[in-house]
Amino acid sequence: MSHRRTMLAALSAAGLALAVVAAPAVATAAPGKPGQPRYSAGADGAGDPYFPLAGNGGIDLQHIDLDLDYTPPAPEPAPLEGQLDGVATIDLRATQDLDRFNLDLRGLTVHRVTVGGKPMAFTQTENELVITPRPKLKAGQGSQVVVEYGGTTTQPRDIDDELYGWVTTRDGAMVVSEPDGAATWFPVSDHPSDKASYDFEITVPDGLVAVANGTLADQSTNDGRTTWTWHAPDQMAAYLATASVGDYTLNRYTTPDGLEIIDAVDPALPASASASLALAPEMIAFFEDRFGPYPFVAYGAIVDDDSVGYALETQTRSFFSRRASEGTAAHELAHQWMGDQVSPGRWADIWLNEGWASYASWMWSEEQGRATAQTNFDEVMSTPADDEFWSLVVADPQPHGLFAGAVYDRGAATLHALRVKIGDDAFFELAKEWVERFGGGTATTADFTALAEEVSGTQLDAFFQTWLYAPEKPTTW
Ligand code: ARG
Ligand code: ZN
Repeated sequence: MSHRRTMLAALSAAGLALAVVAAPAVATAAPGKPGQPRYSAGADGAGDPYFPLAGNGGIDLQHIDLDLDYTPPAPEPAPLEGQLDGVATIDLRATQDLDRFNLDLRGLTVHRVTVGGKPMAFTQTENELVITPRPKLKAGQGSQVVVEYGGTTTQPRDIDDELYGWVTTRDGAMVVSEPDGAATWFPVSDHPSDKASYDFEITVPDGLVAVANGTLADQSTNDGRTTWTWHAPDQMAAYLATASVGDYTLNRYTTPDGLEIIDAVDPALPASASASLALAPEMIAFFEDRFGPYPFVAYGAIVDDDSVGYALETQTRSFFSRRASEGTAAHELAHQWMGDQVSPGRWADIWLNEGWASYASWMWSEEQGRATAQTNFDEVMSTPADDEFWSLVVADPQPHGLFAGAVYDRGAATLHALRVKIGDDAFFELAKEWVERFGGGTATTADFTALAEEVSGTQLDAFFQTWLYAPEKPTTW
């Protein structure tokens, strides 16, 4: 499903030319008769200035079925390389008359593409799979695209040189793809503006566990290989998909409220590394009270003894490197509402993910009788005015600033200052209405500031200018 309207509105709000989104790579259409289709190529990106090639124009993903076969590296001294073979069956809808469209895919080789069951011509560049459907696709037309692909997996890195995507480990793979690493393991529109529902069938050597999003639908072993089938019916941004493989112990239970929880923990870790996971039912109840009903079919965690150096709010199944501390467990859980159910319309809006999740962790701490939200706020405000912490524009942190400390801490402080300004009633009504109104899709900073004004009945331009846009420490607001 695409949420292009939000994105276009956001782009124009930011004063950016709509042409960024709309311009097809090449206008291949011959002038047609009025009312006749004018076929052209879908754009090679979704129009996000931070990651121009992320996502694609002209298509709207509906459902993605990933049939993956994975063999982890052989024991040392063999190189740290896995073998991944996949069949991606992608139901999509054309949003313009298309004679060509792209999917994002990096580092894997496509062997065959069919559209509507017929083999089609395709080419691959470093980042893009370019497909030429015949017959051409008419605007509004649904189509099934099947991509057979595969290759050697290694350890991909993002623009900040951090591990992400399909990260090969000795016993499997850690799969965490924010912001644009999904394309390292399957063909997709790798931008949150085009969510889809997912199914996974992951076949691995017997003894290993493959953990994806959603619920575990089936597990079957044949000829020394086990196929793990996962069903993820909720709309999901590509970066939140996972298919982590490893030596995991599964723990399945149901919360008193009837939500299924599936945790996967590496048995090599001490019990203390995952002790906080037992708090999930209580934490979910707490956040439901603040943000509204838990939005998805299931929850749970993956705790791996390998590390990418961070945790990720993989949808319905948060991922932790080596240890799930209580604060981080609360943070990743809160992201299920704030980031996953409501996703950023553009990557510039990342503070809406990280500010909310960080603030939620402050609230949990206060609820547990530890540091209050006010204490955490005061600590952020104790940072001297000349510290470079204050120089980041939180609502436009630039690609290398996506995960800067200020996005998290000043983002959370912004929400606390807003809460104090508009009062608890308006603040928590805003939180719930945010999820209610934009859930299943995306929203931008402009959507948030407009909703805050709507719910509170207060003019907040100066407030948000001070907190989100001024590259300096707020003094009055
Ligand atoms: N969203 C993750 C979190 O809250 C952080 C992801 C960091 N990603 C990265 N490529 N460094 O905690
Ligand atoms: Zn986060």
